[in-house]
Parts: sequence; C-alpha cells; structure tokens
Amino acid sequence: MEVRKAALSALLLLVALGSCGAKVEEENPEFWRSQARKTLQSALDRKLNTNVAKNILFFLGDGMGITTYTAARILKGQLQNQTGEETVMTMDTFPHVGLAKTYSVDFQIADSAATATAYLCGVKTNLNTIGVNAAARNGICKTQKGNEVTSILKWAKDAGKSVGIVTSTRVQHATPATSYAHSASRKWYSDADVPAGAKKDGCTDISSQLLKNVDIDVIIGGGRKYMTPQYTKDPEYPTDFSARGKRKDKRNLIEEWKSMKRGKVAHYVWNKSDFDAVNPENTDYLMALFEPGDLRFEEERDPKMDPSIVETTEKAIRILQKNPKGFFLLVEGGRIDQAHHAGRGYMALHETVAFDNAIAKGLELTKEHETLTVVMADHSHPFTLNGFPFRGQSILGKSPLWGIDMLPYTTLMYGNGPGYKIRNGTRPDLRNVNTKTKDYVQVSAAPTESTTHSGEDVAVLARGPMAHLFQGVNEQNYIAHAMGYAACVGADLRHCQTQPTHDPDRNRAGAAAHVSVALLFSLLLTLTLLM
Ligand SMILES: *[C@@H]1O[C@H](CO)[C@@H](O)[C@H](O)[C@H]1NC(C)=O
Ligand SMILES: *[C@@H]1O[C@H](CO)[C@@H](O)[C@H](O)[C@H]1NC(C)=O
Ligand SMILES: *[C@@H]1O[C@H](CO)[C@@H](O)[C@H](O)[C@H]1NC(C)=O
Ligand SMILES: [Zn+2]
Repeated sequence: MEVRKAALSALLLLVALGSCGAKVEEENPEFWRSQARKTLQSALDRKLNTNVAKNILFFLGDGMGITTYTAARILKGQLQNQTGEETVMTMDTFPHVGLAKTYSVDFQIADSAATATAYLCGVKTNLNTIGVNAAARNGICKTQKGNEVTSILKWAKDAGKSVGIVTSTRVQHATPATSYAHSASRKWYSDADVPAGAKKDGCTDISSQLLKNVDIDVIIGGGRKYMTPQYTKDPEYPTDFSARGKRKDKRNLIEEWKSMKRGKVAHYVWNKSDFDAVNPENTDYLMALFEPGDLRFEEERDPKMDPSIVETTEKAIRILQKNPKGFFLLVEGGRIDQAHHAGRGYMALHETVAFDNAIAKGLELTKEHETLTVVMADHSHPFTLNGFPFRGQSILGKSPLWGIDMLPYTTLMYGNGPGYKIRNGTRPDLRNVNTKTKDYVQVSAAPTESTTHSGEDVAVLARGPMAHLFQGVNEQNYIAHAMGYAACVGADLRHCQTQPTHDPDRNRAGAAAHVSVALLFSLLLTLTLLM
C-alpha cells in the first residue's frame, strides 16, 4: 500500500515535471489544428495512381515490427537533436498503409523463410522452408520435388525486367534466397550444409541455385564463403579460419559466375574501392559480396572496406533502371532481426534508421508515377516501448518512474531473450548502468539464448502505381499477388490489358483526345440546335 502511494505521488510529480518540459508551440491548440488541416488536405488531394508499375522497389525490414519502427523514428529524430516522437521518417511519408498477418501454415509465429515464401511467392508455407509450398516438409528433400513455387523476382525477369537483390546479410540468407531458390531447408547455404541423404534425393544448395535458377542482374550482400571450395582463404581475412571457403564439391561459384557472364559487362567485387569503381551506366551484371558471411552492423561497418545500405541500394537502382522495361529490386535491411535476436535494441534501431535512409535514396532515384515502392517487415520481435519517459527523453534510456521494487527499468525491453537478469527474485539495479551503449542488452522477462520472433501483424506501406491495393488487414501472401498485379507480371495480367500504359504523357495525350472529341460533339450539337 505504501509502495502504491509512493508510486502515485511519483506519477503526479512526473506529470508536473513533464508539463514543464513541453514545447511552447505545442501548447497552442492552433499548432495541432493547422497541422491536422494540412494532413487532411493532402489526403483529400490524393489521386489514385492506377498506372501499371514499370518498376517495383520492395524494401523488407527483417524483424522490423511496429515497436521497432516507432522507436527507430524517435532515434532518427534524436540523432538530429530533435525530441524524436514528432520526426517524420521516410517510411512515414507513404500514403497507403495496411497490416499483414504473418503466421505460417504450421506455426502461430513465423520465421523469415516461411514469410518470404508468402510475400515473394504468394503462397504460405511451413517454417524454415524456402520457395516451396506447405506440402513440403522442413529439411526433407523428398517432399520438395513438385512443390516448388516461384517468386515475383522470377515473374519480373520473365516479363523482361531487370532484377536484383540487395541485403545486409549473406545473399543465401532466408529473405534473399527465397527470391531465387527452392529449398526444404533455409540452412542449406552451401553443399557442405546439405545432408548426404538430401543430396542423393537430388536437392542442391542455395548458393548453387543463385547461379542457376534466375538470371539475376544485381546481387549485393555477404556470403563469399559459401561460394568457394573448402579452405579457400578469404581475401579480406586470410588468417581467419572460419572465413575460409565451405564448399566440398570443389566448385568456385564466383569464378563460374564470371565465366557465365563472358561477353557482358559483369563485375565481381568484394570491397568498397572496387565497388565504387563500378560504373552503373555500362554495367550489365554486378555481384558484390563484402563479407564471408553477413555484413557488419551499420554502426560497426568499416566505411573504407564496405559500402552502406544507402550506397548499395543506389548502385543497384542505377544499374537496373537502364532497362526500358523496368526492374524489380528487393532491398533487405536484414540485420534488424539479428540485432533483436541478440537483445541489442541500440543496434536494431540503428539498423532500422540506416534502412529508412536507403528507402529515402530509393525514392530519390525513382519516379512515383511509374515505381511501386512497398516497405514491410516479415515478422516482429517481442520488443516493447514502455514506462512513462518524458517527451524527448533518449529512446535508449530509463523510465523516470521506477518499479514497485524501487528499481529503474529501461524504456525498451524484451519478452524473452538473452537479457534475462533476475537473480534470487531481484532485478538488476540499473541506476549506475549506461543503457545507451551499442552493446547494451535490454532486460527480458524469460531467459532464451536468442530472442524469438513475435506474432503480431506487421505494417505494409506503399506508394506509387496501385499502392491503394496495399490496404486493410490481409494475409501476408497477398503482397506478392498485389505487386504482381500492379506491375503486370506473373499469372494475373489483367492490369496491362485494361491500362495500356504507365506513361503519364500518353495518359495526357489520351485525355486530350477525349477533350477534343467532346468539343467536336458539343459544337455539332450547337450547330444542330441553331439550325
Ligand atoms: C546535436 O547536438 C550536438 C551537441 O550540441 C552537436 O555536437 C551535434 O553536431 C548536433 N547534431 C546535429 C545533427 O545537429
Ligand atoms: C579490393 O579488391 C581488389 C580485387 O581483389 C584488390 O586488388 C584490392 O587491393 C582490394 N582493395 C582493398 C582495399 O583491399
Ligand atoms: C542467491 O541466494 C543464495 C542463497 O541465499 C546465495 O547463496 C547466492 O549467493 C545468491 N545469489 C546472488 C546472485 O545473490
Ligand atoms: Zn529472426
């Protein structure tokens, strides 16, 4: 009871303090009214864009749940010395928003393999499986045959568009892999990862499928070690044994890729200086693998050796957009998820800010009337933003109001994860702990080695041709169908039968023709009446 009274008076004190810290202009109701009027007017002025999408820019934030999205917005603002809550991220400017239900056929809470099969291939499936329908079983090669499903990347290539993948993970990781591979297991990165029985049954590793299934114009990420023969020294880390080649079949897929592209302008690069030297204006193909495995976190990246996700996104778009038929590009902010798995809120949010910057670059390099841009997450994490922090307080800080055990807690916490710290029924005392460092692991309620995913819906944001299709609460596999329809690729080609063009000038010409017919008609009518 005493504790409760203390908590109540603390809250009252807090409210008093909080109102002292409020921004002066926000105390004027006209501030909020005029802002809302502007928002309303832009909603009223919005016209449906029913063009056929020439290009699809698809940004996938791995593990970027809504809490991560909001917290990253605050961080992005605070990095620019704003209070942060009111900051407008690039993602926030998308006019159309919906929710996607992420469960897989077999689990209430899904992984990146099952969800990628849903939003890229249009079919929900089982956990850990890639580019196969739910009749296939995780890790069982025999069930894979005949159950393959293709992705929108292939549909776009078959329609004559250029296609690419950009990721901050290895290019064989679940999200990018699902755009080109079919695998009963997401873990079959190289042939050394495929069990003997599965090989006998005819299954092949994801890296070899990167060269074989779809002719991909731009491949950017990490994952060199799965491409080279066992024990091949890594060019960047020659003394690191774990960075050495993994393949047991002695194939060097990087060399094979280069010889496959002979006669074309094709570049393989593994570092930033060679990457910077690639001229997108005359490049047909680019394979860039900057690390043996996943790339480094943006906050730990060596800018002399590896480009940022903003730079890789830009290079990919500049290469792909030379195709007059347009392009499909998948850009994955892949390490938001990995930071969350490690319970590192700081890293997850900084990765999300970098991802938002890449989205801004994508919008800058493309035109809204012809490019459908979709931003979404595959699944969320048990990450929460809680307490009563003051306006503008560091998103990585602590709630000013303590628990009834008279100990502080952080604004960001996890449901489960490696941050479990209860000892003898007591929470750790964070009073003298700096919770804003890049290595800080936020507290979790249940102890797990790695934070799991979570199962709430994820946001889907869309802009450009047919963006209004991405609205409402939908199954996640709907996304592939809606993107395919908008760009007129894949099985449903109705949109290009009714809408012959994505070119606004031709639309205008069409409209002009209508006007002159109408004018002629009314002239005739007038003449008739006069006579
Ligand atoms: C934010 O403020 C700090 C301290 O005054 C300053 O060093 C930094 O340059 C500022 N950052 C921006 C983005 O304005
Ligand atoms: C980048 O890669 C090229 C090709 O292997 C190599 O010649 C060059 O020295 C590398 N640059 C750096 C900074 O390691
Ligand atoms: C927890 O309690 C036990 C038994 O009272 C004691 O031996 C141990 O040192 C305590 N551990 C911590 C971390 O306080
Ligand atoms: Zn994950």
